[in-house]
Amino acid sequence: MNILVVGGGGREHAIIMKLAESSKVDKLYCTPGNGGISKYAECFTVKATDIEGVVETAKKISADMVVVAPDDPLVMGMVDALNEAGFPAFGPDKAAAIIEGSKVFSKNLMLKYNIPTAGYQVFDNSSEAISFIKKENKFPTVIKADGLALGKGVIIAQNLKEAEDAVNSIMEDKIFGNSGLNVVVEEFLTGPEVSVLCFTDGKTIKPMVSSMDHKRINDNDQGPNTGGMGTVAPNPYYTENVAEQCMNEIFIPTIEAMATENRKFKGCLYFGLMLTPDGPKVIEYNCRFGDPETQVVLPLLKTDLVDIFDAVINENLSELNIEWKNESAACIVIASGGYPIKYDTGIVIDGLNEKGQLDDYIVYHAGTKYEDGCFKTSGGRVLGVTATAAELKNALDKAYSAVKQINFDKMHYRNDIGQRALAYKA
Ligand code: AMP
Ligand code: GLY
Repeated sequence: MNILVVGGGGREHAIIMKLAESSKVDKLYCTPGNGGISKYAECFTVKATDIEGVVETAKKISADMVVVAPDDPLVMGMVDALNEAGFPAFGPDKAAAIIEGSKVFSKNLMLKYNIPTAGYQVFDNSSEAISFIKKENKFPTVIKADGLALGKGVIIAQNLKEAEDAVNSIMEDKIFGNSGLNVVVEEFLTGPEVSVLCFTDGKTIKPMVSSMDHKRINDNDQGPNTGGMGTVAPNPYYTENVAEQCMNEIFIPTIEAMATENRKFKGCLYFGLMLTPDGPKVIEYNCRFGDPETQVVLPLLKTDLVDIFDAVINENLSELNIEWKNESAACIVIASGGYPIKYDTGIVIDGLNEKGQLDDYIVYHAGTKYEDGCFKTSGGRVLGVTATAAELKNALDKAYSAVKQINFDKMHYRNDIGQRALAYKA
């Protein structure tokens, strides 16, 4: 098979390296890809949001399957366009991708179908939102822009001033454009967070190994939120009992709700959960693989990923047995100094071999380019270094020793990835 993957970050590199293990693959293609991906797949320069360009690329390479990985093209309807042109595509169509594309939609869905989530109100007007927050007078409170906002649309306001600033910047200054026409004001929840990515064909849902992200830029969860600075899998807080409860109260009700709404979800559905004192609740849905969750989940997959994508597309997932390694994985993200605010690019990265890898480890490239015979930085999050081992502690030690072999000017990484998972007590 010729398979085209759309996207160009660490998540897409992880998907490509897993697909490369399949005997069913003849050739892998990626657009736009990155420096590290270019060593495993032929890359094009078509942007991940260019629907026409991606359809043309699929035609050019006679793609047998297209995998659309990022949120924006899914929400814009890239899978619909690929299907119309006759290409089997992995990912939800536009009608289903709205589960991530609109927080107002997803909150209303959960309310209607009794799926546990934080209490909320929706506003299309900043002064009404602010008077509600004043009247409630409960802090912290959570303010969310309705639409996609590059992962920055959630603000946890500690007091009225911060809440007013958040509402005004989203609704009046429109810092996220039309994504901020509506806001959700939400109850603040507490508890450990778990990411659960699931394969679903709209009828059957099969959770992958659970994981834990680390969103803040600095150790001890200090500093601004990022796309994710590291992950571990499995997440020890997600016990068998919790998993069973999530399956019955959250996962199955969600795919049934989407089917009932004529929005059958096919692809990878990501549940961002909080294990609150009142039980697991949904913090967010994503219509795609998580980044950097994929970088710890897929290395633990034993089953051929092409078979899984096929089963999802052809709606026979119930017949496929998906197997996982009984191991742990850790991914440490190496970012450019200054990320997520301001950083330089074009800096030479030392320590990687010709394929952009390190022996005995997996180096997923997120923001790199290959130029003049070397790898250079091209983004905020640059690399994700993954190691696996029987125990999480060993996976972390291995991943950190690999990180120490890589060097570039002003590189930054967290030293405490996985500490909260290691501190788990049954
Ligand atoms: P998101 O961009 O939706 O992934 O949200 C970013 C982060 O904000 C989440 O990972 C949570 O840590 C936090 N968050 C979102 N909603 C809530 C909530 N209702 N209560 C507490 N924290 C929240
Ligand atoms: N790691 C969080 C996300 O992919 O949205």
